[in-house]
Amino acid sequence: MKAVAQAHTNIALIKYWGKRDEALFLPMNSSLSITLDRFYTTTGVQFCKDLSKDIFMLNGELVNEQELAKMTRFLDIIRNYAGVQEHAIINSTNKVPTAAGFASSASGYAAVAAASTKALGLELGGKELSMLARRGSGSATRSIFGGYVEWQKGEREDGSDSYAKQILGEKEWGLTILSVLLESKCKKVSSREGMKRTVETSPFYSGWLDTVEHDIYSAKEAIRNHDFDQLGKVSEANALKMHATMLGATPPFTYWQSGTLAVMERIQELREEGISAYFTIDAGPNVKVLCMPNDEERVRAALLHMSEVEDIYSCHPGPGITYLPESTMRMDIGY
Ligand code: ADP
Ligand code: DP6
Repeated sequence: MKAVAQAHTNIALIKYWGKRDEALFLPMNSSLSITLDRFYTTTGVQFCKDLSKDIFMLNGELVNEQELAKMTRFLDIIRNYAGVQEHAIINSTNKVPTAAGFASSASGYAAVAAASTKALGLELGGKELSMLARRGSGSATRSIFGGYVEWQKGEREDGSDSYAKQILGEKEWGLTILSVLLESKCKKVSSREGMKRTVETSPFYSGWLDTVEHDIYSAKEAIRNHDFDQLGKVSEANALKMHATMLGATPPFTYWQSGTLAVMERIQELREEGISAYFTIDAGPNVKVLCMPNDEERVRAALLHMSEVEDIYSCHPGPGITYLPESTMRMDIGY
């Protein structure tokens, strides 16, 4: 009754921003992402008859009550699905900064969805796994698959048509995504709280919804034609639109810091100098820069010169869920 799975984070080029059903994690809009090779989570899950509650170790430490409650709520969905009652030990390691806008919740919930269902002997396809991961964190829906991935929002109330699909394999188009680290502290407004506040209070949210499906169409067309400039332009514009909705919320908020703006300006200058580079930003201050592999070193050098930049991680399209031998993770955590 144990299994170990690895899931990679993803960066959304067309963002998921807003839920139409909070309990089922159903999004207001479809989204599109690239799964990243550099950042991932490895999670071992073991179900045991004699546990009276779940035990969740994250990065070598027992989590607080609130985090444990989140995990138990998620595992209850899996237990319900599988028709079992046993509690579990979950031992997870993030090779990605946690809660810092690097999408640890995406790789985290994709990994625990895969490991827990395998531990229970369920043999799920990507579609089913994607729908289960969605119930932990929306962006985890996409991390089940590698490469270029679309999460179709679906229409049904029960969420049975809201899951992700791969649109292009990770080896089929080798872009570079530079993850520019400005600040690695935990953020003040989680993505969950931020999108809820925006949907409920921002007058700009309807403008977001009016244009996002067209952005998806344009991004898919760009991916199909391997048209980097078209993909970069629509991704950058989509990120700016998402961040604009937050400024109209009550109370207003932004994830940007002065370093965020400085990197955005530097990327725009690089374009004026003839380098094709575009930025995108999730719910945090760090910036992700898209460029072609040939330009990677020039873009990296330009950004490393900036005093605001702490570090740069070079990422490329990465794989979907993989399963590791049970022996790769110690489950006996002193219990
Ligand atoms: P991020 O930008 O890192 O995704 P969020 O605030 O959206 O930030 O999500 C962080 C939350 O995701 C954490 O507080 C935790 O609840 C959850 N999370 C992070 N890593 C894991 C993991 N390995 N397994 C399960 N949940 C995780
Ligand atoms: C800005 O998936 O973290 O990164 O579904 O509430 O867990 P919950 O939110 P989460 O939000 C991600 C928001 C985003 C955009 C994206 O990844 O598409």
